[in-house]
Amino acid sequence: MSDFILEMKHIYKSYGGIHALSDVGLDLKAGEVLCLCGENGAGKSTLMKILAGVETPTEGEIYINGRPVRITKPIDAFNEGISMVHQELVQIEEMTVAENIYVGRFKTKAGFVDKKALRENTLKLFEELDIFFEPDSLVRQYSVANRQLIEIAKALSHNCSIIIFDEPTAALTIEETEKLYRIIRRLKQKGMAVILISHRMEDIYAVGDRVEVLKDGENSGTLRVSESKVDDIVKLMIGRTMTQQFPHKTNQVGDVIMEVKNLTNSKISNISFDLRRGEVLGVAGLVGAGRTELLRAIFGLDACEGNLTLNGKRIVNQSPMDGLKRGFALVPEDRKDQGLILNQSILQNIVLSILKKMSAWGIMKPKKETVVCEEYIQKLKIRASGKNMIVQMLSGGNQQKVVLGKCLASKPEILLLDEPTRGVDVGAKAEIYKIINDLACEGISIIVVSSEMTELLGISDRILVMHEGYLSGELSMNEASEEAIMRLAISHEAVG
Ligand SMILES: Nc1ncnc2c1ncn2[C@@H]1O[C@H](COP(=O)(O)OP(=O)(O)OP(=O)(O)O)[C@@H](O)[C@H]1O
Ligand SMILES: [Mg+2]
Repeated sequence: MSDFILEMKHIYKSYGGIHALSDVGLDLKAGEVLCLCGENGAGKSTLMKILAGVETPTEGEIYINGRPVRITKPIDAFNEGISMVHQELVQIEEMTVAENIYVGRFKTKAGFVDKKALRENTLKLFEELDIFFEPDSLVRQYSVANRQLIEIAKALSHNCSIIIFDEPTAALTIEETEKLYRIIRRLKQKGMAVILISHRMEDIYAVGDRVEVLKDGENSGTLRVSESKVDDIVKLMIGRTMTQQFPHKTNQVGDVIMEVKNLTNSKISNISFDLRRGEVLGVAGLVGAGRTELLRAIFGLDACEGNLTLNGKRIVNQSPMDGLKRGFALVPEDRKDQGLILNQSILQNIVLSILKKMSAWGIMKPKKETVVCEEYIQKLKIRASGKNMIVQMLSGGNQQKVVLGKCLASKPEILLLDEPTRGVDVGAKAEIYKIINDLACEGISIIVVSSEMTELLGISDRILVMHEGYLSGELSMNEASEEAIMRLAISHEAVG
């Protein structure tokens, strides 16, 4: 019997001319939590999709407990005890929680779905995981984070011995992330093997036993978590250590460009603040505090009461078109739904937002388009075969970079960023921070919503903190710290 519950050997995968994986190997022991890391486009999701039977490798061998297996369809993977929680959730919104978990496997009693058994099984699963959702409620009503937990329950319902998580914490709140860590530790104790894809070092150090790093579709190295520093992991990922994650701030904060007064709707209450030219204004708060809703109201996506004054003039953005016309741009939190035309190329997507600028005097300038597009592909290190690659074919993180590139290229006067580095690798994060600083230097004012406090502390000129729809405080960079932010984020007193 082999020491390993899983071995993948000499795995190759190419898409047309692109080698997503070449000669990759991976092994795993029972009770081990293996973190799979690497830059956006390194091949992490592809390798795991092969294991889960969603993709077929061009070449390669897979062994379970030393026995060679053939996995060509998801059902083969299930039969070998392998379950995967995907990066992009695939759920049927109009079905109930229980139906989603047992889809295609309903227990039938004389030809009818045995609703009672379905419900009981679902509740038992939730109990094991220490989570609860009403089995008969529709999946549609739940947040991405909660749906993720439902997906985990589904993965476990297959009685698996290997479970794969593809970036599960990207959409989770701090508390939900803690819950997931608890679940992973519990699975480990039960002797299951876990593979966790994540860009977050916190995840690796919280639950990981070992890290396997991929780089450009090849193995870059493996490290024991307890014996490695963040720098060691980063070096395997990007080929060098990162001296500095945050840029030296060089922007000059100017005069007030926008005044926000008593902004109110069903999600936000009485929010007032000023934004200055060339300023990076951070917005902190727990998930659900109304940060996204604040950006949406400013941009014109949601109706609100109150006043916006831009360059001394009262304005109302009644629609995103109003916002765009007045020089606002928004990078939404949920980029998949709101940001991209998936079946078009990177070029077409990036150019969409700058068409106006490119077609001055009514004439399109294709050359200029190409230059701008290539500039952003390079700046954001978008891993693609070229500017004409269809966005759908890009890895998750690279798709996010395209949305960001699209907004940045539009050179707005006021840039609204909602979790701009979510799902993006460490190297690209540093690039995005640098671009934010560069834009501020050009006089662009930027409001950044982020759940990563280190990020806000590293790039902001000032930080607003929200709690349950209110502004609970404002911190200058002298006053700001993780503790100060947290204190305000859970405080019940509104300011202003
Ligand atoms: N259907 C496809 N057609 C062409 N290329 C593809 C396809 N699917 C993936 N690729 C390419 O394979 C490479 C690896 O992608 P993969 O999704 O595995 O990356 P990843 O490591 O999961 O990245 P991320 O951190 O961004 O999620 C990328 O260069 C991607 O563009
Ligand atoms: Mg991926």
